[in-house]
Amino acid sequence: CGIVGYTGPRQAYPIIIKGLKRLEYRGYDSTGVALQNNNLKVYKKKGKVADLEEAIVGQDLNAHAGIGHTRWATHGEPSDRNAHPHQSASGNLAMIHNGIIENYAQLKNELIKKGYQFKSDTDTEVLLNFIEEIKINNNCSLEEAVRIALKRVVGAYVILLLDKDDPQTIIAARKGSPLVIGIGKGEHFLGSDASPMLEYTKEVVYVNDYELAIIRPDELILKNLGNEKITPYVQKLDLELAAIEKGGYEHFMLKEIFEQPQTIYDCLRGRLDANAGTITMAGIQQYADQLIKANRIVMIACGTSWHAGLVAEYIFEELCRINVEVEYASEFRYRNPVINEGDVIIAISQSGETADTLVAIETAKAKGAIILGVVNVVGSSIARASHGGAYTHAGPEIGVASTKAFTAQLAVLTMMALKIAHIKGSISEERYRLLLKEMEEVPEKVAIALKQNDHIKQLADKYKDARDFLYLGRGYNFPVALEGALKLKEISYIHAEGYPAAEMKHGPIALVDENLPVVFVATKDAYHEKVVSNMQEIKARKGKVISVITEGDTTSTELSLDTMVIPETDEILAPMINVVPLQLLAYYIGVAKGLDVDKPRNLAKSVTVE
Ligand code: G6P
Repeated sequence: CGIVGYTGPRQAYPIIIKGLKRLEYRGYDSTGVALQNNNLKVYKKKGKVADLEEAIVGQDLNAHAGIGHTRWATHGEPSDRNAHPHQSASGNLAMIHNGIIENYAQLKNELIKKGYQFKSDTDTEVLLNFIEEIKINNNCSLEEAVRIALKRVVGAYVILLLDKDDPQTIIAARKGSPLVIGIGKGEHFLGSDASPMLEYTKEVVYVNDYELAIIRPDELILKNLGNEKITPYVQKLDLELAAIEKGGYEHFMLKEIFEQPQTIYDCLRGRLDANAGTITMAGIQQYADQLIKANRIVMIACGTSWHAGLVAEYIFEELCRINVEVEYASEFRYRNPVINEGDVIIAISQSGETADTLVAIETAKAKGAIILGVVNVVGSSIARASHGGAYTHAGPEIGVASTKAFTAQLAVLTMMALKIAHIKGSISEERYRLLLKEMEEVPEKVAIALKQNDHIKQLADKYKDARDFLYLGRGYNFPVALEGALKLKEISYIHAEGYPAAEMKHGPIALVDENLPVVFVATKDAYHEKVVSNMQEIKARKGKVISVITEGDTTSTELSLDTMVIPETDEILAPMINVVPLQLLAYYIGVAKGLDVDKPRNLAKSVTVE
């Protein structure tokens, strides 16, 4: 979910609405605002931010303090009733919440016994009434009641509260979900990330777990749950407004796909110097000793980031000769994982806020592992929880389906592998130098791949009505096939599966008939001939072969109904380029089907619930 807040001399509503639109990537199944305007007014509605805006035209929205929420449902279906903010039984308090209260059922029973009735199915309303009950019983301040209540809460949350009787104050608290406070002149802004406050201030405070904030126009008090004051650590934001706007593209996803030559370049800039033969990564260098001696590297991630981990597994094992495992964060954290001395964890995350990944690294950290983060969002929870690592510097990614963050993750992970291999001596100087040179050419080659744009748009029209898709690849291209399938699923709602091209014979081949498009990621590499045989196997069963191939590959062209052509590069670097046409294919199929590609149904960009 996305949360926004404002208190100060300006009109709160327009700031909150604009902020919510920027945070819609975090969830968008219902929207709501609470405004302090003589009385405490709550407006909420199922649907996107624009739906709420339209529904409340003409209402008195004058207010100088308020909070807003865009929801990704956990407890309770998306509906007007379950939308946030929730109001307490007395109507005096309004609250928004991002996260999950795990022991809500127990708290709810206690409140029901005391005669409380609930208007929604949410855990949020339970927590809110629990807070109000404490406030009334103890006759204490709201701040005190929140503190007492949170000591009983199991789960993850960011909450923002308004009290009718204290109209300029917002109370906020965090555990496990992100919260940023922007400091203006006589005003304060709140957000799940810094995007809602960009045009107003560059001074921000990232609130930590178990901290509570009391926010007034000219005052910010930060405390721990033990009621001790903490000095806020004010940081300067390094983010421009243009970075979160569409810049002429129809969708953020398309803009982000096209940004990739630049984002990969930005990722290499200042780090990789092919002439000097150096890779500078301070957050890795620091742990170089542990890395070269590592018995095992465990990559932990979810979704697209997990696919980046799979590519990295192949690269690290090949170049560094270190055993690598790639784990879904959600599985890793719950099975009492074995961590031995000399294990290094690499956590990969665009948002840096994915709840499962965050807890997984905390689990590994508690067992003594070194944690290196490969994270896009600067100052995010995973970045802060890691010992070292490297930022991907892809800029804000707004489209829910990850694109430029993925290629930037691959760029960072490849540089890490090259650096470690070089220090360790597991790569020859010649190959190292060659890969550095090739790596420098990747942004340009991605730009060439993007020239297929119009051609891929036509392919999308041709294949958009397929019911299923199969994506196949071997070696470095196997995770690319997985990622291609995931992109299509997310954006077009067409069922798609990614598979190792040879393993296809053990199951998916049964699905092949004249209706099934099969996308081969078949650029020239060590396994190329094998992939060509797999293409023949599909063709023989009348499957529609579409392939991503290297320029000049006539054999694959003959076997394919359609091709997407890629400039040649080293096989280790190919995934960064090969994924690009697959992103475009998914994008244009989604567009051709008239779907909201930036906000596909049921998904959220940043999954801060487990
Ligand atoms: C969500 C997003 C995906 C993303 C995954 C992991 O499912 O929709 O695009 O890959 O979370 O997110 P992270 O921010 O940790 O990379």
